[in-house]
Amino acid sequence: MSLWFESRLATLSSLLLLIFLVHPHSCKAVDLKPCGFQAIYNFGDSLSDTGNAMAEHPSPHAWHYPLGMTIGRATGRACDGLLIIDHIAEATGLPFCNPYLNKSLDHSKGANFAVGGTGLLSKEERAEWNVNFVWSNDSLDVQLRWFDQHLNDNFKDEKARRDHLKSSLFVIGGGGNDYGAMGGSPLYDKLPYIEQKKLIMPVVVGALVDAVKKFISYGANKVIATGVYQGGCIGGCKVTDKGLHCWEPTNEFHKLHNEFLQRKLQELGKEYPDARFAYGDVWGGAQWIWDRYQSLGFVYPQKACCGDKDHMYCGMDGTPWCSNPNEHVFWDCPGHFTDKSYRYMYQQMIPRIVEELQCDDKKNEL
Ligand SMILES: *[C@@H]1O[C@H](CO)[C@@H](O)[C@H](O)[C@H]1NC(C)=O
Ligand SMILES: *[C@@H]1O[C@H](CO)[C@@H](O)[C@H](O)[C@H]1NC(C)=O
Repeated sequence: MSLWFESRLATLSSLLLLIFLVHPHSCKAVDLKPCGFQAIYNFGDSLSDTGNAMAEHPSPHAWHYPLGMTIGRATGRACDGLLIIDHIAEATGLPFCNPYLNKSLDHSKGANFAVGGTGLLSKEERAEWNVNFVWSNDSLDVQLRWFDQHLNDNFKDEKARRDHLKSSLFVIGGGGNDYGAMGGSPLYDKLPYIEQKKLIMPVVVGALVDAVKKFISYGANKVIATGVYQGGCIGGCKVTDKGLHCWEPTNEFHKLHNEFLQRKLQELGKEYPDARFAYGDVWGGAQWIWDRYQSLGFVYPQKACCGDKDHMYCGMDGTPWCSNPNEHVFWDCPGHFTDKSYRYMYQQMIPRIVEELQCDDKKNEL
């Protein structure tokens, strides 16, 4: 054995030992199969839309290549490949969560209600706070109405419906678009940036929490709520170099949103002791990547693969794209991540999700 190889082996074994010491449960499979989920219901925005926006607004001039270039097929995902929700679905052993608005797809194993460009605030709340979505009107309140419709269409029997939802996984996220679309209200125009956002945060998080309570009232008992990532680091079509230039006030605020959401999840845990609430830490996943992006093979921590300053939206006629998405943390200009980034983010997120859902913890099963 060469010295080089021996020293590599020594490093590797001490590393393995370290991992084992830090994570005494790391021998357990890190997946959600012990939960025995029968279905997944997902609510959110483009970070988890698997084809609703495309089904709603089909166009011969949009939604095409290079979207899906890494998996060889454009699916309506704002990505070159798969999203975090796809990896979560894989972890449960269920098929990908099919978009609800695509009626030709099977929804017997759940449905995805997330729509790109939407937020958590309802139409009424948007009017009150002068938040104007320019991209889509299918906010969480609309998605919840679709969910009710879906249940009415598929379950005539109340008990069968409850049993089904009891063994389903609920995933919900959003907020980035609500904050991104804010502005122009006399209510908060004069306030400093962070103070403006702080005013609306309880309303945004409150919408998510109300939805979770609705799921629980229907019989659900396993929920993953995802936070927001570093919105101040979007800007992928403005940067021309290889650096990362984040706007800290936005990041600072998004961090507050995540802290607030986690506090709310703890409260939900106390209010509903038979249910389990997991936090989907997209922030932590993205930070993990940025802290070591070069060693992961990324070249551009911020510059997006697809789009330029004149073409914001990937997959539309005339939008340019890079040759190797694996060199980019961001897939496109509005701040969607590449397949490779989402994969790493998921890997960082899943241990905490598994731990918090407590599926293989027999003493918690009543
Ligand atoms: C529905 O999904 C199928 C399979 O992915 C796809 O071929 C089709 O284009 C989608 N329909 C719409 C309207 O998006
Ligand atoms: C959202 O709704 C408003 C008011 O009904 C409408 O004018 C606008 O076109 C809608 N936006 C989208 C993207 O559908």
